[in-house]
Amino acid sequence: MKRKPTVFGNWKLHNTLKDSEELARAIIDGAAPYADRCHVGFAPVFTALCTVAEHTRKSTTCTLLAQNGYPKPNGAFTGEVSFSLIKDVGCTGVLVGHSERRHLFGESDELVGEKVESALQTGLTVVLCLGETLDEREAGHTWEVVDRQLTSAMFHVPPALRDKVIIAYEPVWAIGTGKTATPLQAQEVHALIRKRIEENWLAESAQSTVILYGGSVNAKNAQELFSQPDIDGALVGGASLKPESFLEIIKAAAESAATK
Ligand code: PGA
Repeated sequence: MKRKPTVFGNWKLHNTLKDSEELARAIIDGAAPYADRCHVGFAPVFTALCTVAEHTRKSTTCTLLAQNGYPKPNGAFTGEVSFSLIKDVGCTGVLVGHSERRHLFGESDELVGEKVESALQTGLTVVLCLGETLDEREAGHTWEVVDRQLTSAMFHVPPALRDKVIIAYEPVWAIGTGKTATPLQAQEVHALIRKRIEENWLAESAQSTVILYGGSVNAKNAQELFSQPDIDGALVGGASLKPESFLEIIKAAAESAATK
């Protein structure tokens, strides 16, 4: 089964409402020529979702994602936003388990698992982020860590919802540092993730699950990363904040489809 190349932007804590709206419009227009060959989406700050949704709703090119969500529908959870409200505002997907959530905000594997379940039950696509720290890699524990994060968050997902899970392998040491994993380092982990999905779900699910790479992806390194057989696209931070660099990455992903 052919997987559609996918490029998502994670805008993190950047951009005013006006900046978010302008960036969204530039990407929606610029991505139009690649829409049939590449699935494009972006995750603005919460305060911009409602406004940006007015543009993504009309667009056939781009989907809207949230950066985070809380696994309870409502209640006394000051400062949190539920997945149902995220859907209500016009998002079709959400990032879950981003390393900044895990490491800066102390999110456990257990909480990430609850979020995956709640977001999927709400009808959102989940972009499940996984990855090892530099210490873990240097100690030879990369696969142990990624496998633990994958297994605890994913393998209880019922068959009917499995096609709503996208994986993003993002080595923590490569995020925002300018250090990218080499295409072969990334491919090695992607292939192991796909193998584990096959063992726990089905060969068919393993072949259809989109696995993105994230960590200092830019216009220069995207093409080589996307040439790897198990790298289906990217989750992009810094380079998604400028339409020019983000569109170059989208172009590289769309073109990679022809070579796989
Ligand atoms: P980066 O961020 O592209 O700036 O390294 C990626 C991410 O955090 O998703």
